[in-house]
Amino acid sequence: PWSAARAETIIAAGKDAPGALLPLLHDLQHVFGCIPDAAVPMLAAALNLSRAEIHGVVSFYHDFRSHPPGRHILKLCRAEACQAVGGEAVARHALARLGIDWHGTTPDGAMTVEPVYCLGLCACGPSAMLDEAPLARLDAARVDALVETVR
Ligand code: FES
Repeated sequence: PWSAARAETIIAAGKDAPGALLPLLHDLQHVFGCIPDAAVPMLAAALNLSRAEIHGVVSFYHDFRSHPPGRHILKLCRAEACQAVGGEAVARHALARLGIDWHGTTPDGAMTVEPVYCLGLCACGPSAMLDEAPLARLDAARVDALVETVR
């Protein structure tokens, strides 16, 4: 859960390092599961940046999210090699099946789907990661099975 005191401690510990913003965002997301809105003005003040600049960085990097994720995170590869073997169709199937869009979380909080741009598994695409587990040669049937498992 969100704790301003905890965020303050994290920010104070890292704010003086060169290029402090990205490492701090990683630390905050690691602790809170996302970059909570309340942390943005704290970061802005500590790093002498505007809130808009911080929001810009958070939305630019696909790794950061501004809302807490579901219990499982499915990252679907959208890079070229996976696209060439049908990755987009698999991704569309997964999103339709879950009834959400990219970065969305199912209403029951079971799963968040995020795009990822190459997992280094290009030879056996379409590739994905479910939480920490890499998945290779995904197809619609395997997506369906996966959705059943997490529900
Ligand atoms: Fe998908 Fe490399 S392009 S894993």
